[in-house]
Amino acid sequence: MKNPFRYGEVVTGEDFADRETELENIIRDLKAGQTIFLISPRRYGKTSLIINALKRLQKDGFLTAYIDLFKVSSFKSLLELYTGIVSRAAETKIERFNRLVRDFFPNIRPKVVITPDGSPSIEIDYEVKERSASKLFDEVYEAPQRIAKKRNKNFIVVFDEFQEIANLNGEVIEKGMRACFQHHDHVSYLFAGSRRHIISDMVSNKRRAFYNMGKVMPLGKIPVEEFKSFLEDKFSRTGFSLENGVLDEILDVTENYPYNVQFLCHELWNNCLDSRRVAYEDITPTMNRILDGQSAVYVTIWNTLPLHQKRILIAIASSGGENIFSRDFIRDNDLGAASSVQTSINLLMKKEIIEKEGNIYYISDVFFKIWIRKEMM
Ligand SMILES: Nc1ncnc2c1ncn2[C@@H]1O[C@H](COP(=O)(O)OP(=O)(O)O)[C@@H](O)[C@H]1O
Ligand SMILES: [Mg+2]
Repeated sequence: MKNPFRYGEVVTGEDFADRETELENIIRDLKAGQTIFLISPRRYGKTSLIINALKRLQKDGFLTAYIDLFKVSSFKSLLELYTGIVSRAAETKIERFNRLVRDFFPNIRPKVVITPDGSPSIEIDYEVKERSASKLFDEVYEAPQRIAKKRNKNFIVVFDEFQEIANLNGEVIEKGMRACFQHHDHVSYLFAGSRRHIISDMVSNKRRAFYNMGKVMPLGKIPVEEFKSFLEDKFSRTGFSLENGVLDEILDVTENYPYNVQFLCHELWNNCLDSRRVAYEDITPTMNRILDGQSAVYVTIWNTLPLHQKRILIAIASSGGENIFSRDFIRDNDLGAASSVQTSINLLMKKEIIEKEGNIYYISDVFFKIWIRKEMM
């Protein structure tokens, strides 16, 4: 029998819990041509939500393109990836794909290559210089609109991990995108990202190209009751019984982070397979096994951090991250000057090791926090 809990991958269909309101809202807005900025910390379920929404939109006859900017390392690779994905959304048969690429990308003249899984993709065999690239980018940015119009359909285009655009001289790209996208009446855009303040700044700062371009949609955690009934169902369908209150304890230990909840349940399911019963007392040993398994990763992260950043993480892990710029906090944790606390905090946020919610700073991976408490304090 297969373990029913999935983590570290996109979850769809019956592995995807709740999010019904969010799905409805996203689908409705995209159908109406509304641009959306979907933001949440990592591993909350943005990508899963997006993929589920795109599946539904495809069924309703929309063309859909999903671009993960983690896969983009240069202007050239952005051009290649975008061209390939947009073209594949419209045509998969190789002959037609070739023709579409010829018709819609006459200036780029990309080469079509066949990937090992048999699907076509795009290569550009010349160097793309940032300065001379704007004409090429216009051609690429216009393609969804032109394809959609020709087909008498609408296109949905998603840029996931959009904060990564900053690594490629984002300002130039943002300007180019805005100039094109604002005329697209056959395309809806969704930008998703995990660095909330970066994305919010893009949309709310008057000096930025994306100022007021769309609606910001923050994604929260999955409501406890919905998540519990999803988990309960997964356990019971595979013949497991649960001690009373065990699900509350699981959500408590994991602070209801979707990824961590599924991770812990996955391991509990494996550990309790013989008895098919999960009890309170199974949780701690299972957590310890998870931390052992993760420790190589955590040690590596830890060893790259300067002492001051380690101290801050220990302080946040032990206290919760309130009032961290207060004199008491700085003195109690031996953190030196407030300015150096600010510097370290900024660096830790940039590395996405910590997050900020209101005035509270917290460690983004709750298992890392538990590991710090266990190993470093
Ligand atoms: N709706 C959901 N139902 C169940 N598990 C979820 C859901 N959303 C996210 N998860 C869990 O969180 C993990 C990370 O989800 P993902 O969509 O990759 O998040 P993000 O894109 O925000 O980083 C998934 O592998 C899964 O374990
Ligand atoms: Mg994601």
